[in-house]
Amino acid sequence: MASPTSILSLLLLAAVVSSAEVIRMYPREHLVRLDSDPECESWKFSVEVNAAGSWSSIPRPCVSFVQDYFNTGRYLSDSISVASYSENFALSVNVADGDGMDAWVFDVDETLLSNLPYYKDNGFGSEPYNETSFNEWVYKGLAPVLPASLTLYKRVKKLGFKIFILTGRAEFQRAVTEQNLIDAGYSGWEKLILRGREDEGKKAIVYKSEKRDELVKQGYRIQGSSGDQWSDLMGFALAKRSFKLPNPMYYVS
Ligand SMILES: *[C@@H]1O[C@H](CO)[C@@H](O)[C@H](O)[C@H]1NC(C)=O
Ligand SMILES: [Mg+2]
Repeated sequence: MASPTSILSLLLLAAVVSSAEVIRMYPREHLVRLDSDPECESWKFSVEVNAAGSWSSIPRPCVSFVQDYFNTGRYLSDSISVASYSENFALSVNVADGDGMDAWVFDVDETLLSNLPYYKDNGFGSEPYNETSFNEWVYKGLAPVLPASLTLYKRVKKLGFKIFILTGRAEFQRAVTEQNLIDAGYSGWEKLILRGREDEGKKAIVYKSEKRDELVKQGYRIQGSSGDQWSDLMGFALAKRSFKLPNPMYYVS
């Protein structure tokens, strides 16, 4: 038998559904879309949780869905949510009386910096990766900040974590990457680690694990790690907690 509470929730659910129906009757251009393509929503879920594994481009029918995801503020909202959970964890680590060996690792692209202006001009990840044009974009040094990551970065630093920036960008992009990070508001990192000659051809997951392992061997305790790719967060020498940021545009294995 249905309890009064469950009847009430059914009524509330009905009210929510019908108000969504009502909203749908109004012109869309002034509204942030409240519902979206359920199949693309499920596709995005599957790639974000890595159930899809490696994938090379957004399914054609989901390109405008991904565009909307960025344009309606959902991307910012998701990254704020992940950053606040990350901060909660950071606050739970006792670094106050520490030895300066508690570390936090940040990735660069789609983590500290956003390449959205580039991807906006290049089909939001619906086109195959073009190394030449992407490198040209990197060389401009104009990648904007991902605001939630800057806030997290500053707070984690203030808590006393040593910050390591570990990127798949190459050593020859060091100067422009450093300047771009500074222009975006970042400062005070312990080390910026880029791919050197010896890392060429390595999968990101191997390269990043090896670099984290070097930190562990130096005595650092990697407490947290923030990255938009599973290859930032898996492998070995893992952080105690890894935080996956959203990225439905591309996959790096
Ligand atoms: C990749 O980008 C370069 C530089 O913008 C361009 O000349 C080239 O045609 C692109 N390649 C493909 C396959 O689109
Ligand atoms: Mg990245």
